[in-house]
Amino acid sequence: MGDSATAALKVSGLNTFYGKKQILRNVSFDLMKSEIVAVIGHNGSGKSTLLKSIYGIIPFESGGIEVFGETLDTPNPAECLKRGLAYLPQDDPVFNSLTVEENLRISMGRRSAGGVTSLLSGDGSWASWLKNLAGRPARNLSGGEKQRVALSSVLTTSAKILLLDEPTAGLDVGNSKTILEMIKQFSERHQFSVLLVEQNVRQALETAERAIILKQGEVTYSGPTGPMMEPHRMKELYL
Ligand SMILES: Nc1ncnc2c1ncn2[C@@H]1O[C@H](COP(=O)(O)OP(=O)(O)OP(=O)(O)O)[C@@H](O)[C@H]1O
Ligand SMILES: [Mg+2]
Repeated sequence: MGDSATAALKVSGLNTFYGKKQILRNVSFDLMKSEIVAVIGHNGSGKSTLLKSIYGIIPFESGGIEVFGETLDTPNPAECLKRGLAYLPQDDPVFNSLTVEENLRISMGRRSAGGVTSLLSGDGSWASWLKNLAGRPARNLSGGEKQRVALSSVLTTSAKILLLDEPTAGLDVGNSKTILEMIKQFSERHQFSVLLVEQNVRQALETAERAIILKQGEVTYSGPTGPMMEPHRMKELYL
């Protein structure tokens, strides 16, 4: 395993197609240890396709992916999980047929058996919120509640790299903020890296150290988020 200069995740020249239609065009970027990189772009620009390509849900045509300096030859979800990646999908993020607690147990299965119990018995508003939902079938939760349960599942795996596809989808402004702050805190405390697809550009830039902008499947900006917050700069880059 590499030194501190080795990227947690290195994506090089990724090209992905749906049939004959090219979606990702030569996408390259690095995600360092403990870093949050935001992926922003308009609807249909290829953000979800990028995460799915990395996690091996959709095969890519050419290019390469390295995890902590080692090539992922043919990415598939099981292999990715083994290598320390976890993925929060944009659609259907929970198992509807299971309860909230069962959802959490599945994601924590590979970790300590007492993990879920300690998660649910912890203090703090998040834990007590989860505890109240524990026995509910996930299918009966509201969209925002599902989203928060799904994120709890991902955050409690032992993954070192999180691929999060719109973790705040369906959440009100207050809850979105709380979630993004929590992701940031977790990433600092447990030193994991996050590739964050986020619809709310301002919140994404406030959460991430760096960002890439995707336009029709191409990276048109890759760099620190600070300078992007200038309103005229944002317009120039994004519109
Ligand atoms: N399974 C599929 N088959 C064919 N085309 C697809 C498929 N999934 C997505 N696409 C197309 O690929 C392009 C990129 O889609 P993708 O879901 O990656 O965009 P996105 O940036 O995540 O958009 P959004 O912000 O709406 O979530 C779109 O033009 C979409 O119509
Ligand atoms: Mg998407």
